[in-house]
Amino acid sequence: MDVNGASVVVTGGASGLGAATARRLATRGARVVILDLPTSAGKEVAHEINALFAPADVTETEAVQAAIDLATNEAPLRAVVHCAGRGGALRIIDRDGNPGSLETYEQVVRINLVGSFNVLRLAAARMAGNDEVEDERGVVVLTSSVAAWEGQIGQIPYASAKAGIAGMTLVAARDLASRKIRVTTIAPGLFDTPILARLPQKVRDSLGASVPHPNRLGVPEEYAALALHVIENPMLNGETIRLDGAIRMQAR
Ligand SMILES: NC(=O)c1ccc[n+]([C@@H]2O[C@H](COP(=O)([O-])OP(=O)(O)OC[C@H]3O[C@@H](n4cnc5c(N)ncnc54)[C@H](O)[C@@H]3O)[C@@H](O)[C@H]2O)c1
Repeated sequence: MDVNGASVVVTGGASGLGAATARRLATRGARVVILDLPTSAGKEVAHEINALFAPADVTETEAVQAAIDLATNEAPLRAVVHCAGRGGALRIIDRDGNPGSLETYEQVVRINLVGSFNVLRLAAARMAGNDEVEDERGVVVLTSSVAAWEGQIGQIPYASAKAGIAGMTLVAARDLASRKIRVTTIAPGLFDTPILARLPQKVRDSLGASVPHPNRLGVPEEYAALALHVIENPMLNGETIRLDGAIRMQAR
């Protein structure tokens, strides 16, 4: 799929992996709509790269629909890169011996997993009305995590949600094949984004040192490069691609 002249929605596009992707797609001639929380830096990032900002929570139908409408008013929506997400620590039994919070579990799963399905379904329904270009109508790129396979202690809701995203990828690709819409997921390892910026430098250094090769944290542009490749390569469909420098996370 050539994004030049098409509109593209990047969720979580105000920061980190999403911001780098929005920037890269804008330089390829896409009309980019950054969908991010109203409290995010979406407006500033959009201004910087000549994109549009749609303040929205990915779990809300109306706001996501409005972002898709905004994109479609500019040009046919041909691609969505869904980066919005967040972590959330939880132990199954807390320090005092109480069961872990069901509310925290549900919240993290809602943002990461339910939000992914919400964006997927609304985007796909719109893309289904597109004219075909080179035998396809659109492509959705989702974001999982290596925690889908190697969740660390404390990551139970996040790992559950990210495994759910990996699990939905093939069935989504099969389901949408008759519409000629592709669905592919990227599962990043450790990337240097504001998620990690909160950690002390010593911890960041040791995380980088745990990556076999290249022996460092990933940079958001490397995610953006793969997202663009997924959009452009018509044979990439139904797969979750690890982007992780061969890291396999330990239990803690
Ligand atoms: N950075 C990493 O090492 C890493 C590793 C594996 C997976 N990931 C995943 O990559 C994605 C992007 O992460 P990042 O590192 O760029 O993080 P980030 O915090 O820099 O960016 C995430 C963006 O998502 C937005 N967001 C959060 N909840 C939202 C919601 N409900 N609705 C709309 N927007 C929302 C935030 O405002 C933020 O701008 C996330 O899904 C994350 O889980 C990141």
